[in-house]
Amino acid sequence: MNTRFEPVPTDAPLPVVVVGAGGMGAAWIAAVEESHLVDLRGIVDLNQDAARTAAIAVGRPDLPTGTATVPLARETGAQAVINVTIPEAHHPVTTEALFAGLPVLGEKPVAATLPQSLALAATSTLTNQLFMVSQSRRYNQHVVDARAMSQQLGTLGICSVDFFKAPRFGGFRDAMPHPLLVDMAIHQFDLARLLLDAEPVSVSCEEYNPTWSWYDGDACALAIFEMTGGARFIFNGSWCSPGLETSWNGRWRISGAGGSVLWDGDNPPCSEPNHPIAANATPMEEGIRGALVEFVTALRDGKRPMGEVQSNLLSFAMVEAAVRSASTGQRVHIRELLDESLATALDLPFDPAVLDTLRAGDVLNSLLPA
Ligand SMILES: NC(=O)c1ccc[n+]([C@@H]2O[C@H](COP(=O)([O-])OP(=O)(O)OC[C@H]3O[C@@H](n4cnc5c(N)ncnc54)[C@H](O)[C@@H]3O)[C@@H](O)[C@H]2O)c1
Repeated sequence: MNTRFEPVPTDAPLPVVVVGAGGMGAAWIAAVEESHLVDLRGIVDLNQDAARTAAIAVGRPDLPTGTATVPLARETGAQAVINVTIPEAHHPVTTEALFAGLPVLGEKPVAATLPQSLALAATSTLTNQLFMVSQSRRYNQHVVDARAMSQQLGTLGICSVDFFKAPRFGGFRDAMPHPLLVDMAIHQFDLARLLLDAEPVSVSCEEYNPTWSWYDGDACALAIFEMTGGARFIFNGSWCSPGLETSWNGRWRISGAGGSVLWDGDNPPCSEPNHPIAANATPMEEGIRGALVEFVTALRDGKRPMGEVQSNLLSFAMVEAAVRSASTGQRVHIRELLDESLATALDLPFDPAVLDTLRAGDVLNSLLPA
């Protein structure tokens, strides 16, 4: 068993509360209600009407609801929390749960800021409780196959993704700064880490907004990441490109010494040369359902999941580094950004034991190779 968190070793459905009953919360509540691995015990939202409406929507009008996570978890016997609140609430809700001895499966991004993300990684370590971030796009058979194909190409040197969409969201995304980088690109950045099996080293990024863009912030970005091992990951994206749009996953090319893989984001990937890859005996659970399976399995057998905060934090660091690079015109080194975020975190009023854990340095050292 390779674990640094306390497992919940039982085959019975894991009793959980879901926190956050907004748009994505509704999707999670439906997934939890359907799953035989978990037992939905309650829904929490600051807006209790939203929690009640969500309970009714899954046919459970009598489901306990509340506005505070740990009290409702205690009352209902829940042993884990699924945090689908807004990013600003990720840190307080997850911190409270971890300190109460409740493991957490949270929506991306890990938190609203890197210092908060580091504090959450430290809190998970300190409390021995699993905090896993759901990056739902990892749970996709085509991604698994593209990765398997890539691993047969020898040394990988180039991974690029084109992402061209034209969504008319209305609302906060039209007004926020860096809409594409902050609200979307983490999905592709995180997939690049998985596909290349490499971690980010540095990034140079340029943002821009075409004359016809309906976003206030820059809706386009071109980012070139250096990854460990020397490979480059190139993200070329736009949220205001009508016509011939790509998949929401983006259109991918991975090139290695021995060939290339192409994946259009929607259909099975292909490679040249064409190496056969093993087929799954049973179809995998995809999207958030896949994340849920991985979370429960990790708690049952103690195997570290790929979304564990200590690892997932790097996908969020890629976003923050790209935004910093676009804003300053400078290449940004991930290690330097994390060092700076750690220094900032140590000046914030986090729990003293969390600050001591951060000061011990293990959190940062475990994130990146020296
Ligand atoms: N994986 C994906 O593809 C995907 C897609 C959309 C959203 N998300 C993520 O899901 C999360 C939620 O997004 P959303 O679109 O559902 O947001 P939303 O605004 O629709 O809903 C958030 C809900 O959280 C509640 N809330 C806020 N603070 C709270 C707190 N402290 N305690 C309890 N409830 C609280 C709000 O009242 C609201 O009902 C975000 O982190 C977002 O990035 C992921």
